[in-house]
Amino acid sequence: MARADSTETVLRIEDLRTHFHTDDGVVKAVDGVSLSVRRGEILGLVGESGSGKSVTNLSVLQLVPTPPGRYAGGQIWFGGEDLLTKSEQEMRAFRGNRIAMIFQDPMTSLNPYLRVSRQVGEVLRLHKGMDAKAARRRTIELLEMVGIPDPSRRVDAHPHELSGGMLQRVMIAMALACEPDLLLADEPTTALDVTVQAQILELIQQLCRDRGTAVVLVTHDLGVVAGVADRVAVMYAGRLVEQGDVEQIFHHPRHPYTEGLLRSLPRLDRKGELTAIPGMPPNLSNLPEGCAFAPRCPVKMPHCSEQTPAWTGSPDSGARCFALDADDEATVFHRGVVKVDEATEVMSLDEVAAALGEDLT
Ligand SMILES: Nc1ncnc2c1ncn2[C@@H]1O[C@H](COP(=O)(O)OP(=O)(O)OP(=O)(O)O)[C@@H](O)[C@H]1O
Ligand code: SF4
Ligand SMILES: [Mg+2]
Repeated sequence: MARADSTETVLRIEDLRTHFHTDDGVVKAVDGVSLSVRRGEILGLVGESGSGKSVTNLSVLQLVPTPPGRYAGGQIWFGGEDLLTKSEQEMRAFRGNRIAMIFQDPMTSLNPYLRVSRQVGEVLRLHKGMDAKAARRRTIELLEMVGIPDPSRRVDAHPHELSGGMLQRVMIAMALACEPDLLLADEPTTALDVTVQAQILELIQQLCRDRGTAVVLVTHDLGVVAGVADRVAVMYAGRLVEQGDVEQIFHHPRHPYTEGLLRSLPRLDRKGELTAIPGMPPNLSNLPEGCAFAPRCPVKMPHCSEQTPAWTGSPDSGARCFALDADDEATVFHRGVVKVDEATEVMSLDEVAAALGEDLT
């Protein structure tokens, strides 16, 4: 998905560490994550539940509850400024303006007492300088764009009068309303049916194309990533284990965890052959010695449980694994044990939607 102007880095996260201090110990939810997103680019952030995807996104807007959370290190560069050094008041100027977030839980960002017209309209009045009448007209248009039926009636609804899927679409409308430089979208389409899901993903791509918005798209679903992302970052146990272009990730995954995720992707041509990764992710307050994936890794070596693998490759394209040949980072290691079917094709959005409809609902 080549974009017109994609050289400018909009967000650069460097060595981010966000920890939670709990009664059970320090939960290292994000521990040394570095990634960047350029103008007009969609970065898919994937990984199993609890891998730190949401905490990474929440950290960008300083929305992690502190305590128990604590920003234990790193920098988050946006427009030449380190967001982690900003005060709460300074952060308010970024939220819902230059940086928009679609939350995993829509009720996190909607006020239950205010009508939709007021909540979306406020964004338009504040950030786009529209008067009340223009804001209402634009709100109705936005509701229509995100697939809300009968928008001129629903615009006057309170959140409790709308279903979960509709609330999610209202939140997406709010994010689109401010035409942000950076959109952090956390499972934006999970609660939606397949048709609406495809529609929302198309809107996000359009925003990216037309306005150059940089997008971090968090999802469990590699199928969605294949359909819309330019690059992919894979998280495991609070760390990035692989990053690369979408084609590279799907055709030549370098990390055994990425391969495992790909094997569990619903595929139209391989029905009934989904293979879940055996075992469970580790407890983040008590990580195993060495590589955190070692207890589940089909190609682990004796030293994997003793030493922690370093990142190999460039910041934008590489992996964290001893089996990756440092001298030839283009080499896919595989070691002959797991091999992703060479015929794996990057799915089109239609195929993704069809696969989701048939296999996941
Ligand atoms: N407020 C909190 N207090 C303590 N631990 C927390 C808190 N919020 C998140 N965590 C922990 O941080 C880790 C990462 O959570 P996060 O929500 O980022 O995962 P995720 O990758 O977004 O998962 P999912 O796919 O389920 O949304 C988890 O172990 C979670 O339990
Ligand atoms: S470092 Fe070792 S255990 Fe970890 S993913 Fe690579 S091969 Fe597997
Ligand atoms: Mg999450």
